[in-house]
Amino acid sequence: MNIYIKTYGCQMNERDSEALAGMLCARGHKIVPDEDSADVMIFNTCSVRDQAERKAVGKVSFMKKYKDRKPELIIGVIGCMAERRGESLLEEIKHLDFVLGTGKLHTLPDLIESLREKRLRRADTGPCNDVLTAMGAHYRPEGGSNVLGQIAITRGCNRFCSYCIVPYVRGREISREMEDILAEARMLAADGVREILLLGQNVAAYGMNGETASPAPEYSPFADLLAEMAKIDGLYRIRYTSPYPTYFNDKLIRTIAENPKVCRNVHLPLQSGSDRILKLMNRQYTADLYREIAGKLRRAMPDITFSTDVIVGFPGETEEDFRMTRDLMNEIGFDQSFIFKYSPRPGAKSAQEPDSVPQSVKEERDQILLADLAERTAKNMAAQVGTVQEVLAEGVSRRMAERWTGRTGGNRMIHFPPPEGVRPGDLLQIRVKRAGNVTLYGEVEKD
Ligand code: SAH
Ligand code: SF4
Ligand code: F3S
Repeated sequence: MNIYIKTYGCQMNERDSEALAGMLCARGHKIVPDEDSADVMIFNTCSVRDQAERKAVGKVSFMKKYKDRKPELIIGVIGCMAERRGESLLEEIKHLDFVLGTGKLHTLPDLIESLREKRLRRADTGPCNDVLTAMGAHYRPEGGSNVLGQIAITRGCNRFCSYCIVPYVRGREISREMEDILAEARMLAADGVREILLLGQNVAAYGMNGETASPAPEYSPFADLLAEMAKIDGLYRIRYTSPYPTYFNDKLIRTIAENPKVCRNVHLPLQSGSDRILKLMNRQYTADLYREIAGKLRRAMPDITFSTDVIVGFPGETEEDFRMTRDLMNEIGFDQSFIFKYSPRPGAKSAQEPDSVPQSVKEERDQILLADLAERTAKNMAAQVGTVQEVLAEGVSRRMAERWTGRTGGNRMIHFPPPEGVRPGDLLQIRVKRAGNVTLYGEVEKD
């Protein structure tokens, strides 16, 4: 069958979709890039903010016109919103055939094949540990870039930040066996993958059996995994996202510093710079502890870059709380930040409090942080001009056919004229000639 997959939400969802595409192809199905030729449409959804859900529901509702034209078309909603809303989605969207939650994703190929035989409407949600081991497939389409790969190393989250729906829709945190992860990484490297992104909602808690207390200084199964990954031949770079700040103990910081394959870029979710709000969010650090962790990382690796997530308009957030967030963001000097307006999620603890910050104030705070970000990024980018960066060549630029793109270890995108014989996956030394707002421009350094 021709299968169209549309993915919303975070990288974990992207990775799930990729694994499903791999599993479906192995069964002889074909992944198609457009809706028109699809026999099956799959929407892998996100619940993290109300807007994410509304977007997906709008899109799925709009697909009715395809079903009217082609009644044998199968339409399914999977992932986080599927888990949260289950059966009720079938009642709400009459042309929907199935709903498959996050714990049951591995059953998708069997499910769609059985639906083709026998048209039944089904919703299947709830936990199932098999999903952890069953989702190791990869999808490497013809003509696609083979250089970047992703591996999920944990699923779920035990942290229960008060605003967050993820622990409810993704279930308890579980870690994969290290040997399975390494085998998957070796297979990808043998297949030409040069950079692997390790994924988990709480990735640095890998191997800690769901423990949420800060680890002892010399205990970090995640560090052990990074050290083993770094030994894989042919693999040049290792990234990971998202680590919760309190897992950066001495061992983890030292391991990263000792292994240059582990990229000098950390996505370190801050959420707020106010201790009062952090406490209400059930984040287990203070602004000072966050500063201390970022400072330790920076001392161990002076070229490190940071990115972050921040929420504006959490219930009760005052001007003063917001100012502390703004100041801390500028102090750390994030290269990239994702700023979210608070959205109450039914079921999450903070939704019991009134959503007290008016929308207009959320907008205003969002704009202020975006403007700060633009200013910081421009400054950080300009500071790169004249430096030589190691860049992993990815391929022809999507915007300019005569240029190639790649990324620096610090995760900055760079465009450059391709040297003779360059291949995706090559590591190049590139001198930065010019800085744009969000990308760099450079030339390969001749030696
Ligand atoms: N596990 C990741 C976060 C996943 S959700 C981590 O802890 O780093 C991605 C981001 O969405 C969060 O970091 C948070 O900033 C934002 N977010 C989560 N719930 C939200 C909500 N209810 N309203 C607004 N933003 C939210
Ligand atoms: Fe959500 Fe917090 Fe878990 Fe991240 S760590 S997924 S923000 S509960
Ligand atoms: Fe969204 Fe689910 Fe990711 S809720 S952010 S897609 S884990």
